[in-house]
Amino acid sequence: MRKKIVAGNWKMNKTFQEGVDLAIEIDKLYAESGDKNVKVIVTPPFTHIAEVNKVVNNDLISVAGQNCSTETSGAYTGEISAEMLWSAGADAVILGHSERREYFGETNEMLNTKVKKALEFNLTPIYCIGEVLAERESGKYFDVIKEQLQTVLFDLSVEDFSKVVLAYEPVWAIGTGKTATPAQAQEVHKFIRDLLKEKFGAAADNTSILYGGSCKPDNAKELFANPDIDGGLIGGASLKAADFMGIINAF
Ligand code: PGA
Repeated sequence: MRKKIVAGNWKMNKTFQEGVDLAIEIDKLYAESGDKNVKVIVTPPFTHIAEVNKVVNNDLISVAGQNCSTETSGAYTGEISAEMLWSAGADAVILGHSERREYFGETNEMLNTKVKKALEFNLTPIYCIGEVLAERESGKYFDVIKEQLQTVLFDLSVEDFSKVVLAYEPVWAIGTGKTATPAQAQEVHKFIRDLLKEKFGAAADNTSILYGGSCKPDNAKELFANPDIDGGLIGGASLKAADFMGIINAF
């Protein structure tokens, strides 16, 4: 059975102490909540990872990075390697977020390398895909998503593929307050799973596919109720412990 996952993407928010305090609050609220059938991930800025990892119960909450380098190590000023993330206590990494694609020129080719680097150093890649508004409106979104999947994941072995988590994030819904309707999201999630099944067979039945894009406590339940939506990648609403818990509790 595939895992239910709720991952908070803090982006470039929270000072060190604010981040540690948020992690402590999330940890406390989750420890007190009844059902713990959801894998909870928090994704602070790099500088906070080691400390956040210390203050949460690692059996309940995992810590992830927001990006990693295409390179293993060496003279790449400002870069953070997959191995560094792992050594600081992360066990996953978000890759290909639309903000990385748009503002930092990340291509599918680079992301193919990053996914492999993450796997090499025992990090779960949380690979993000999704279309921009013009691609949605012109009806090209299936082609865009297909390309993002084929070019980045299709040369993995089934064994490596089975370690990957997907996040479908329609770019027009990120941080805009505009959510994809549950039907729109399910349509794409099913499309993604069918494509993955064609390539990787039954392994795709166990792949968690998260929805991202203005997911909030008040719309999470109807999104998560769909058969191919296995959780959420949460931006804005992950910055407040109570809102983040509201989404976790939507399962
Ligand atoms: P949002 O961000 O929840 O603020 O829309 C989602 C994301 O970018 O992962």
